[in-house]
Amino acid sequence: MPLLGRSLLDTRILSAKDIDEIFLKADSMQLGRDAIPTGPAPVVCCLFFEPSTRTRMSFQMAAYRLGLEVLTMELSAGSSLSKGETATDTVLNFAAMNPDVLVVRYGSSRELDALLPMLKIPVLNAGSGTLAHPTQGLLDAYTLRAEWGGLSGKRILIFGDVLHSRVARSGFDVLTKLGAEIGVFGPEHLLPSDLNRSDLQPYGIRVFPSLDEALPWADACMGLRIQLERHDARSAAKSDSPSEHLSGSVAANYLSRYGLTVERLKLLKPEALILHPGPINHGVEFAPEVVEDSRSRVLAQVTNGVRIRAALLALILGR
Ligand code: CP
Repeated sequence: MPLLGRSLLDTRILSAKDIDEIFLKADSMQLGRDAIPTGPAPVVCCLFFEPSTRTRMSFQMAAYRLGLEVLTMELSAGSSLSKGETATDTVLNFAAMNPDVLVVRYGSSRELDALLPMLKIPVLNAGSGTLAHPTQGLLDAYTLRAEWGGLSGKRILIFGDVLHSRVARSGFDVLTKLGAEIGVFGPEHLLPSDLNRSDLQPYGIRVFPSLDEALPWADACMGLRIQLERHDARSAAKSDSPSEHLSGSVAANYLSRYGLTVERLKLLKPEALILHPGPINHGVEFAPEVVEDSRSRVLAQVTNGVRIRAALLALILGR
């Protein structure tokens, strides 16, 4: 599927061949300042209705490295959202200014899910509710491919709050298309209630009863934070975590039952890799020492995020 002039709202529209083409483009990206073409630069508009550090800054970094102009509306202050304007109207107004690409992050919104595919301007999904985070799924797979050369037959464990994770959903899709096997582990109330349901069934996901059993199986493991902002009252009530913040004792209990502790690091293969999409809650899903482990590729993911987003922008804009 050529991306020229197209949106990328979900990785499910991509074939394994498309993903490979994105990765080859990412491999070939010249991200130095001297690579910037001359002439009027296309404009990328970033609209983040939810907080972000990595995705937002790496889209901006990628765009600057390509010599594009970037407009980012600060939604927390100074936008008309504070006067009651809806997210849908905000997107429509931005689209009416005819930028060359829109980058949009948002929480669960049926209105935006329906609107974005209808826009005439290409849209890159920077994370939508619990549904999809295509650029994260691609950069995670790209990071593993950089280490292994390919993902065929590799076993990837995703653990933590899988239920509320758009990263996990895009990961299931991209990683399995590239031939990897997926395992998951997490507290029962934070796993999709039926991993055999139709949207997840094609992925053939293995559910592990414990992290101790799952870690020796994995060639790579990816931790997920508890996404409290997406927990509804029901899952919060079932949870042994409070709805707002994890207190010290609850965090310690979660880490010992479900998290990657220093002791559990010993269960991982010596050559296994450790990923996390961020933000990390140190002392909850990961012991503070985990990111220091030589097998951690957490910052390589961030570096590769710029490369993948630059590749997608370049493919969409035909640069
Ligand atoms: N991984 C990720 O989406 O991080 P941010 O929320 O900081 O963008």
